[in-house]
Amino acid sequence: MADPVLTVAELLRPAFAAVAGGECDPTVRPSDRADAQVNGSLALAKKMGKPPREVAEAVMAQANLSAVCSTTEIAGPGFVNLTFANEFLAGELRAAMADPRLGVRTQAAKRFVVDYSAPNVAKEMHVGHLRSTVIGDAIVRMLEFFGHHVVRENHVGDWGTPFGMLIEHLIDLGEAEASRELSVGDLDMFYKQARQKFDADDTFKERARKRVVALQGGDTETLRMWKLLVAESTRYFDRVYDLLGVLLRDSDIMGESAYNQLLPEVVERLSKANMLVTSDGAEVVFVDGFVNRDNEPLPLIIRKGDGGYNYATSDLATVIDRVERLKVDSMLYVVGAPQAQHLEMVAAVARKAGWLPDTVEFNHVVFGSVLGEDRKILKSRSGETVKLDALLAEAVERAEAAISEKNPELDVATRKAVARQVGIGAIKYADLSIDRVKDYIFDWERMLSFDGNTAPYLQYAHARICSIFRKSEHSRESVRGGTVDIDHAAERALVLRLLQFDTAVVDAVERHSPHRLCTYLYELAGEFSAFYEQCPVLRAPDDATRASRLMLCDSTARVMEQGLALLGIEAPEQM
Ligand code: ARG
Repeated sequence: MADPVLTVAELLRPAFAAVAGGECDPTVRPSDRADAQVNGSLALAKKMGKPPREVAEAVMAQANLSAVCSTTEIAGPGFVNLTFANEFLAGELRAAMADPRLGVRTQAAKRFVVDYSAPNVAKEMHVGHLRSTVIGDAIVRMLEFFGHHVVRENHVGDWGTPFGMLIEHLIDLGEAEASRELSVGDLDMFYKQARQKFDADDTFKERARKRVVALQGGDTETLRMWKLLVAESTRYFDRVYDLLGVLLRDSDIMGESAYNQLLPEVVERLSKANMLVTSDGAEVVFVDGFVNRDNEPLPLIIRKGDGGYNYATSDLATVIDRVERLKVDSMLYVVGAPQAQHLEMVAAVARKAGWLPDTVEFNHVVFGSVLGEDRKILKSRSGETVKLDALLAEAVERAEAAISEKNPELDVATRKAVARQVGIGAIKYADLSIDRVKDYIFDWERMLSFDGNTAPYLQYAHARICSIFRKSEHSRESVRGGTVDIDHAAERALVLRLLQFDTAVVDAVERHSPHRLCTYLYELAGEFSAFYEQCPVLRAPDDATRASRLMLCDSTARVMEQGLALLGIEAPEQM
């Protein structure tokens, strides 16, 4: 627990309890007027029917903050402004930096499943899948940092009626040609051609229909061709994952087809629970509180008239599997906003049916859309879905151009390696730094800028510190464990910020909101810049000051590198 705000809150707890005559939250928050402000006295005063200043005085008379605060001041209507003592801050920083977790609290380990990425077989991955992949990856990394047990599940769309037409199209095209088209990532083309034939040609439609029946019936030859489609698409997805540098592996694929065996059971269980009704020839569940635009009850379709199961049915199966086989405490569905109602209904049905106990969390980690300059869903110039591998390649190319300009001395190999880290980092950070529930506009200039809340800016702050050490005769390791003397306001502000890494990471993981960590890192980089401008490091007035400032530089670089790593972003040592 590095954050001084928490330390002080813990110290105040007994004093509050004594005055309140029982548990009472001190409510300490960071503040603009001081380092922190105690607000709990206001709520307590209200409860006790006493003047707030009097209560604040009573609490402060009981409390002993002499080891952590240089001043405590009762102010305004009765809150308390706190200023942390510099020696206390220096000691806390020393402790945090001696800790491999850099002072970040631990949490009681829980079991999570994170459902993310989830592109569809024989269909282009779109920017929505990119968002899910990048946000999901950051959440997984943060959860693992806290020691939680995380099961990554890539719920690829690899099953259902479209596979009838896709397989028939594969037969028409010949397997070799189909493989070629799919492996170059021309997935949309393949899908569109199949669709066109399906819509225009009744014989093809009939073939497709029969093929679905064969697929669902487990026909060996049909399954073989289905697997071919899946394998070719998976190869394409892997290429994108590889470029992105995310943790997802083939072994994380838990597609819709994986729940096949469970689907009849979903129906059976719903039927036993008397939740299943027939409506327009389909078997459906009506969920309390869900209505359509005409205010009529909205059904979740479980089995269609033709006996085929639905997207919702396999999502109900995911709940059963995750609760009963994986025994998770929490499920995170990192899925776009348009599927909010679908997931809410799935959760409601699962709760009602008793498969989802109150002790298990079901979280839709919702996100907005990626927009083009026209504020519409991002499309390529020709109006097609943007090809993600091309997009990522362009990011790396643009980053290389920017780096060549900024640092022409870098040798080619280093420049190429750094361009990949910066280009991919820029794409990921542009996505992660915006509150995920919002839409954002995809903007090359902005995301690759070395100024502002961008990956290159943060990576540059890190690289700059590495370069300070290259120029000094000290190694990073050699300055660790030293003491920091806080003499300058900029040093103090930087120390305080470093200690807040703890809260930033906890906030980001608990709210499944990586942007909170981004905001923190951006503030840290700003604080570092201010420090570096005002406090000479290599030309410090004396050895002790230099050592102290080098220690601050190293601490900043470590927090920056660790913070970026939790977001899935690399921190080059030069750029
Ligand atoms: N394949 C779906 C799509 O592309 C996303 C699946 C999300 N996960 C889930 N369990 N429904 O929209």
